[in-house]
Amino acid sequence: MSELPDYVIKNREHWDKHADSWVAMGERAWNRNPSWGMWGVPESELQLLPVDMSGMDAIELGCGTAYISAWLIRRGARVVGMDNSERQLATARRLATEHGVDLELIHGNAEVVPKPDESFDFAVSEYGVAIWSDPFKWVPEAHRLLKPGGELVMLGNHPLVMCVQDFTSDAPATFTLMEPYFGMGRIDWDDGDDQGTNFNMPVSDWFKLWGDVGFDILAYHELQSPESGDEVSFFVTKDWAHRYPSEQVWKVRKR
Ligand SMILES: C[S@@+](CC[C@H](N)C(=O)[O-])C[C@H]1O[C@@H](n2cnc3c(N)ncnc32)[C@H](O)[C@@H]1O
Repeated sequence: MSELPDYVIKNREHWDKHADSWVAMGERAWNRNPSWGMWGVPESELQLLPVDMSGMDAIELGCGTAYISAWLIRRGARVVGMDNSERQLATARRLATEHGVDLELIHGNAEVVPKPDESFDFAVSEYGVAIWSDPFKWVPEAHRLLKPGGELVMLGNHPLVMCVQDFTSDAPATFTLMEPYFGMGRIDWDDGDDQGTNFNMPVSDWFKLWGDVGFDILAYHELQSPESGDEVSFFVTKDWAHRYPSEQVWKVRKR
């Protein structure tokens, strides 16, 4: 096995340490209909998933507790979930057993997936490799794994949010521009208690990467929080995300 990059080791420590905090959310999500991101935007609005996935092979890259894998299985797909944290996979494994579903789970860095070329019809990452891995590694890897015509959905932080955060504290996103937008790439954060590495880049760079790697863009969404409803305990307030996009979604197809 090739050596893990430093940020994969650091992010593994982060997720193994925090996996327990994600169990309850994972359990709820396994039981609900598909809805996306921090604000729970319904699938009926975004239409990210094929309605009937019978006979399709799908992979979730950075699956965590694997609730999206569960949604894909319910639509008829055979699914592989890969994650960098053994503790997150332990929850996924338990939930798969409790729900009586067949789900292949792989532990490792999903920038390098131990599956042959063109193994999958569909790939998805919601806050998995989509934000925790280097897009110049995981996007070409997703392309390799997909059959021609296969679709990839990724959801993660909107790059604008990365410009209004203090990466040395766990305070929520501010209304002040603090970090440059252009040149954004690897983001190492350390709030005193915790460290991790995320990746993001300007929207124009995402457009370029999809095209250069060999994907056609089917849809791009900037998600907004609803006007009413409860606050969520993430790093963006509901008010912030009602005024500015906190999340982006790309749906792309392999040429
Ligand atoms: C926020 S969870 C995503 C799962 C789920 N959609 C959610 O939002 O809870 C992030 C997951 O990405 C995983 N992850 C981070 N870097 C990864 C990598 N390089 N390869 C595979 N998984 C990775 C973490 O271990 C963690 O379980």
